[in-house]
Amino acid sequence: MSLVLKVIGGDLEALARDTLGEFCRRSRQGEIVPLKIGLKRGHLVSDPAIVRHVLLENISNYDKRTPAFDAVRVVLGNGMLTSGGAFWKRQRRISQPAFHGESVQRFGPIIERLAAECATDWEVAARAGTTVDASADMMKVTLRIVAATLFGDDLAGDAEEINRVFPEILACLSVRVSSPMRAPLWMPTANNRRLQPALAVLDAIVTRLIATKRRRLAGSAMHGASHRDLLTILMLARDEETGEVMSDSQLRDEVMTLLIAGHETTANALSWLWVLLDRHPDEQERLRAELLAATAGRAPGVADLPKLPRLKAVISETLRLYPPVWMFDRRALGPDDLAGTRVRKGDLVIFCPYAIHRLPQLWRDPEAFRPERFQAGHEEQRNKFAYLPFSAGPRTCIGNSFAMMESQIIVGTLLARFRGRLAEPSPVIPLPRVTLRTSRPVELRLELAPVTHDQPTRTA
Ligand code: HEM
Repeated sequence: MSLVLKVIGGDLEALARDTLGEFCRRSRQGEIVPLKIGLKRGHLVSDPAIVRHVLLENISNYDKRTPAFDAVRVVLGNGMLTSGGAFWKRQRRISQPAFHGESVQRFGPIIERLAAECATDWEVAARAGTTVDASADMMKVTLRIVAATLFGDDLAGDAEEINRVFPEILACLSVRVSSPMRAPLWMPTANNRRLQPALAVLDAIVTRLIATKRRRLAGSAMHGASHRDLLTILMLARDEETGEVMSDSQLRDEVMTLLIAGHETTANALSWLWVLLDRHPDEQERLRAELLAATAGRAPGVADLPKLPRLKAVISETLRLYPPVWMFDRRALGPDDLAGTRVRKGDLVIFCPYAIHRLPQLWRDPEAFRPERFQAGHEEQRNKFAYLPFSAGPRTCIGNSFAMMESQIIVGTLLARFRGRLAEPSPVIPLPRVTLRTSRPVELRLELAPVTHDQPTRTA
């Protein structure tokens, strides 16, 4: 059962039968709809003006002390995703410069290299006539990318260990988030017995990498700015207002947050993208033509991305139809008035991007896959509070530009070389877990696409 359902007792039964369908139906009933959540009152908000009010205009009246966020604190600690108030503001202010559009471009070469490695693996499968599990591969490549981005060369021998324990941690978090009774980590429940050792391994690696980095930075005056990994940037960052830097334990929480927030979301979006490209083979050909025109068949790099508007639009449309963060919530710190509905202290306000993105009053032909909605001149949606894959307002996803750049490079690299079709015709349906998963692995049968010249290569 999903994250919300366990969390929202009262209306649980109806929602349990068909979570996403029920959220969509209720969202169509009105701009703000009551949801009985066990002993708590909840409000499902679907109107962009009300979304804007809660996420921007009256943001100080809402925090993230909700059951869903409390469940992941055991792993993420008090990192940027889960913290609040002045502490969050400071962490965000310190971290923000590293995630600006231009700053994230420095990570382009890492993404290009790891996307090319994935393409090499796919080529082996294509030549052997075997299938690839695109969902597993997207998970693997995005985890590698975020880990390499964070730790740079220091990661070396730890990469495999991180890859080994991470799926275990994610699986345990999923169970934890969807269970109504959350035992503290020290209690020997079955889930905790799985989570504890995996988390201990990851914690030990992260703690050691932070210590290594501190020593290295103390020993050498500066790393060249362009070679800095994200951990170094965060370690050196000084709050402009207070002059403070992050402590080791704050760095630990931010690293855990970025490892988790920074890969499962992107991986699930890309899994859905392969499903959509199977349903729309003409779109695959169109993207390949765009790639050929822009790079003559070479894998795209950061510099090529402005020449690939259709690819970006396809990713944006995938995020509309299958937003990885399909729902999120806030807790009211005091009373509020949401379009005539009285919100009391402690009430939950719930946003379901999956449902909002399918509202006919906001989106023309909402169930249709139409990437042109996001292309210049066709921009159907101009209200950023109606399109929420990355949320909106001050707590919008800090990794937004990173995720878009990463997605374009990975998909562009693979599409430049392969046609991919689902190996099995049975439908793939969305499963609302912590993020929006596919109901089954996305197994693809690959065909090598003709390449004009300049095959992507493994670079050091
Ligand atoms: C397609 C990929 C992604 C999607 C759909 C996504 C979605 C989101 C959403 C909806 C939120 C807001 C959650 C809330 O306020 O309740 C969020 C926050 C966040 N995301 Fe992402 N994300 C993605 C990729 C990334 C990446 C690549 C990173 C980092 C490398 C990242 C780091 C974060 C962090 C740190 C926050 C907390 C920001 C804050 O509260 O100040 N995300 N993300």
